[in-house]
Amino acid sequence: MDKPEIQQLLIQNAHRRYATKKYRAGQHIPNDDWQTILEVGRLSPSSFGYEPWKFLLLNNRHDQEAIKPFAWGAANSINGADKLLIILAHKNVTYDSQYVQHLVDDIKHKNYSPTSTVSQKFKKFQEQDLGLKNSHDVFEWAVRQCYIAMANMITAAAALDIDSCPIEGFNYAQLNEYLADHHYMDPKEWGVAVMVSFGYRDQEITPKVRQPLSDIYQELN
Ligand SMILES: Cc1cc2nc3c(=O)[nH]c(=O)nc-3n(C[C@H](O)[C@H](O)[C@H](O)COP(=O)(O)O)c2cc1C
Repeated sequence: MDKPEIQQLLIQNAHRRYATKKYRAGQHIPNDDWQTILEVGRLSPSSFGYEPWKFLLLNNRHDQEAIKPFAWGAANSINGADKLLIILAHKNVTYDSQYVQHLVDDIKHKNYSPTSTVSQKFKKFQEQDLGLKNSHDVFEWAVRQCYIAMANMITAAAALDIDSCPIEGFNYAQLNEYLADHHYMDPKEWGVAVMVSFGYRDQEITPKVRQPLSDIYQELN
């Protein structure tokens, strides 16, 4: 495939992806496609490479119906999407946390120490450069990473002819409480970042309405 073809495919895929409001219930995503979407999420970039996410697939019909009253933005998805994914963000990604120790020791196979150059650089980065002041700020920073994974997954899904919808339309406190009460997550460690559904559309793709590039792009020479 030559460059212009790749460019055309990328733009076509950006048009092909749209926030699906009506899904065809009962149509299932083949497992190899689903594993591909998950793998794209897993391989997503994250700040410092600390991957502060977890992907929770809410398969159980009972759970889906239970969250519906406080997940208005997910109602269409719950009614027909094949997969409803909750992306959790880690709450304690700081230089001296067990989570970072685990990432550095067990995943990156480097020797963790809270006083290492990398740990101290990460501390300075979070506290001074990003200006994260408290655990809420640290969590919100982790949430930002989760959105990157979600974006990659919905783009990959579109390339596989699978529809999706990002979902922020729900009560965060109530969903967090539901997941904690059902022991689906440890609320000391995790909180909901965003949800996203996947399936097959039962509607036409709506044409994109966007600001012109000239309004949103500026070259500083
Ligand atoms: C972070 C985020 C949260 C969103 N939340 C919802 C939602 O709760 N329910 C919904 O139906 N659509 C939701 N959307 C879809 C947007 O409304 C949609 O992406 C936007 O209008 C642009 O349309 P398009 O995605 O079809 O191009 C969300 C999109 C994003 C990126």
